[in-house]
Amino acid sequence: MITTTNLKKAYRSRGRDIVALDGVDLHVREGEVFGVVGRSGAGKSTLIRCVNLLERPTSGTVTVAGQDLTALHRRGLRAARGRIGMVFQHFNLLSARTVQQNVELPLEILGLRGAQRSRRAGELLELVGLADRAGAYPAQLSGGQKQRVGIARALAGKPRVLLSDEATSALDPQTTRSILHLLRDLNRQLGLTILLITHEMDVIKTVCDSAALMRDGRIVESGTVAELLATPGSELAGALFPIGQVPSGAGRTVIDLTFHGDSTAQPVISHLARSYNVDVSILGAAIETIGGLQVGRMRIALPGAFEDNVVPIGYLREQGLRVDVAEPERARSSVTASAGDPAPAGTPGGPR
Ligand SMILES: Nc1ncnc2c1ncn2[C@@H]1O[C@H](COP(=O)(O)OP(=O)(O)OP(=O)(O)O)[C@@H](O)[C@H]1O
Ligand SMILES: [Mg+2]
Repeated sequence: MITTTNLKKAYRSRGRDIVALDGVDLHVREGEVFGVVGRSGAGKSTLIRCVNLLERPTSGTVTVAGQDLTALHRRGLRAARGRIGMVFQHFNLLSARTVQQNVELPLEILGLRGAQRSRRAGELLELVGLADRAGAYPAQLSGGQKQRVGIARALAGKPRVLLSDEATSALDPQTTRSILHLLRDLNRQLGLTILLITHEMDVIKTVCDSAALMRDGRIVESGTVAELLATPGSELAGALFPIGQVPSGAGRTVIDLTFHGDSTAQPVISHLARSYNVDVSILGAAIETIGGLQVGRMRIALPGAFEDNVVPIGYLREQGLRVDVAEPERARSSVTASAGDPAPAGTPGGPR
C-alpha cells in the first residue's frame, strides 16, 4: 500500500547538508497498522512527511496505493494527498471554529456544500465518538477529544491511508489507550492502512501488526511482530518484550524462550516439567496474546548444568520455539555487550 524505494532527504542548513533520510525502503501492506520507532532525530517525521510529499524527497520514490507520488505534478498531487489522511501530535485545530466547523473545513475544500457537508461532518464525528460535542470549541475539549476531532478531520476525504506522527504523545496513558483503540477500530471497520510514528514501545505492542526501527536516517529492522521475534538478536523484539539479562549460575541453566505464535506458552512449560520431571522456574516473561496466539519471550531456569539439560532443551526446540541458553557467569565477560545494550542473553557464542 505504501512503498518507498531508496528514499533520501537532505536539508541544507548553514552551508552544510544534514542527511535526514539515507536510503529508506519501507513497505507497508494494505490494511495493516505499521509503526515506526526510533530515537529523536532518527528521521521519523521526515519519513512520514515524505510519504505524502509535504516534504519533497531529494531522491527515491514514494508509491501510495499504486501511484508514484514523486512523479505527480501539483494538481495530481493534491488529489492524491486528499486520499491520505494525516493526524498530528498537537492536533492543529482552528481555535475560532467549533468542532463541527473544524471537520467541515476539509469538506469545504473538497467542494461539499451546505446540508451535505454538515451531514458528512456529523457522520465523521459519530465515527470518532464525538457527535455530542459538535458545537464545542477546541478550548473546551480534553486532549483526547481534540485528537478525535483531528482524526475525524483526517478522514474527511475518505482516505485509504492514515499517517500519524506521535498522535498520542501529548496524552496521558489512559487517553492514549482509547485513541489507539479508535485507530484500531478504524483500521478494521474501514480497512484503513495506518502508518504511525511513535517513540513508545507500548503503542507498537497495542496496535501494530508490523514495526520498523529507524536509526540515522535508515531502517535497521523491520517486519511483523512475529517475524521480529523470530529474528535472533532483534533489538525491536528485545525492546517490545524486555526481560533483562540473567546469567546461568552454579547449578542452574537459564534459558530464553521466544514464542512466535505457533505454540502456547503454558502447555509447553507444564509438559516440559511433567515429561522430564524437572522443576522449571520462571524468572521472567513478557508474553502477549495477539489474535489468539501467544507471542513474546520467557526466561526459565532448569536445575543442573547445560550438559544435564540437553534433552529438555532439545524438547523445547522441537516445539518450534527459539531457544537461547544464557552463558554461565564465568564465561560471560568476553562476549557480553556493555550495560544497557539490549542484545539478548545467549546470542553470541553461548552453548547451543
Ligand atoms: N526543516 C529542516 N531543516 C533542517 N534540518 C532538519 C529539518 N527537519 C528535520 N531536520 C533534521 O533531520 C533530522 C531528522 O529529523 P526528524 O524530525 O525527521 O527526526 P525524528 O525522528 O522525527 O525526531 P523526533 O523523535 O525528535 O521527532 C534531524 O537531524 C533534524 O535536525
Ligand atoms: Mg518527529
